[in-house]
Amino acid sequence: MDLVIVANRLPVEFTADGQMVVSPGGLVSAVRSVAAVGTHWVGWGGEHAPRGTKSRVVDNLVLHPVDLAASEVAGFYKGFANSLLWPLFHGRVRHVELRRSWWRSYRQVNERFAAEVARVAPLGGTVWVHDYHLLLAPAAIRARRPDLRIGLFLHIPFPNAQLMATLPWRREVLEGMLGADLIGFQADDDVANFAASTERLLRNPLRGHWTTRRGHPVHVDAFPISIDVGHWDDLGNAAADRALALREQLGATALFFGVDRLDYTKGITQRLRAFGELLDQGRLDPRTTSFVQVAPPSRGDVPGYGEEKEEVEAMIASINDMHRRDDGSGPVLYIDENCDEAQLAAWYRAADAVVVTPLADGMNLVAKEFVATRSDNNGVLILSEFAGAANELDGALLVNPYDLDAMKSAFLAAVEMPSDERARRMSTMRTAIRDNDVHRWARRFLTRLDTVSRVRSVDTRRRGAPLAMPDQSTAVGERQ
Ligand code: F6P
Repeated sequence: MDLVIVANRLPVEFTADGQMVVSPGGLVSAVRSVAAVGTHWVGWGGEHAPRGTKSRVVDNLVLHPVDLAASEVAGFYKGFANSLLWPLFHGRVRHVELRRSWWRSYRQVNERFAAEVARVAPLGGTVWVHDYHLLLAPAAIRARRPDLRIGLFLHIPFPNAQLMATLPWRREVLEGMLGADLIGFQADDDVANFAASTERLLRNPLRGHWTTRRGHPVHVDAFPISIDVGHWDDLGNAAADRALALREQLGATALFFGVDRLDYTKGITQRLRAFGELLDQGRLDPRTTSFVQVAPPSRGDVPGYGEEKEEVEAMIASINDMHRRDDGSGPVLYIDENCDEAQLAAWYRAADAVVVTPLADGMNLVAKEFVATRSDNNGVLILSEFAGAANELDGALLVNPYDLDAMKSAFLAAVEMPSDERARRMSTMRTAIRDNDVHRWARRFLTRLDTVSRVRSVDTRRRGAPLAMPDQSTAVGERQ
């Protein structure tokens, strides 16, 4: 297999007591499900990974660990990636911190990943770099191994040109990305933002889907990521009985459900505020209505995450105190740890409405997982218009999570929606996700990468101007 996946995390990581477990996050579950036997994967084994571990085969993948020193975890991962790029790329929903030492660490770690890729990638192989942790890696890999086809996929949004311009290392970051043959984003808005940034900051316009940097043609397009629809459909069917039992346990006639990494971009407090006000106003009955929120803690000591956890917990405590039932339970059930997939499918299947209200989100796979589990064509999706998933799931009740009244109306509309309308909306969404599951996503990206790299070789041989290349939205010879 000549494919090398490059991502910050390996698909497995080590816990403090030395156990090997599946790494957290949507990236790992999506990319893992499309990695064929023998695929190489270059990444970090987490904060508890033993240092100096050699490459090894785990679950049919060849894993190549990249060690990070504690100072690099602080500078590269917690600092540059998660205290600067994360809030900046999500439209600054939180204060952006900026330290020059983080940049040095980011550059150093990106070089280390590139060196490992250069060491392990087969001659003429395909390298697929993922996400905002590794934006410098494409150019760094190309400098070492010009024989490789290089794709980059950004799982989170790309900021507008004004925000991007505030980054002191904006040119280096854009140049790093442009080392790829193909750059994939979640949505057309991200492509447009990237195009505006390269034009404004590098004087490097995009013509259609193509641009060129240092004589090297680069193709740019949206590739909305998805989930393994068949797998979640099976989980949903298997969870039907467990779902009924959950509803009975809660005594709920109306059940709202949310599941998110505990992150300030996810709009958890916004949805709780809407729910709390509806109870306060007597528009939802606390005796028969429940909100279950699963929110495993994430990114421990990165600024903003501790505060978010405190705020979520305080809000839940206050709603429950205010509306405590006779049996002592409150209307909000908070689960602050990971659920396994089977348990998650049972919650999706039990819910009247799943509430997905990020303030900004590249895609949001929870929305798609929920839809995939509902072969009963029941359940309502309340979805933020700022999640990439909103571009595909127009059967959802779309909301602006900053608009409290609109959120409250959506909650009420969900519980009052007639069953035929629920079924119609759900069935539209199920068709949409069936048409673009994670396998198709990966195939589309890798086929396009193959096609555009061929265009590059022909172009290089001819020494022709890359901008004269075809301006097609679907690349030459590619079937959608
Ligand atoms: O997409 C954002 C992302 O960083 C992914 O890389 C990953 O799936 C998830 O968030 C988990 O975050 P972390 O790796 O910081 O725990």
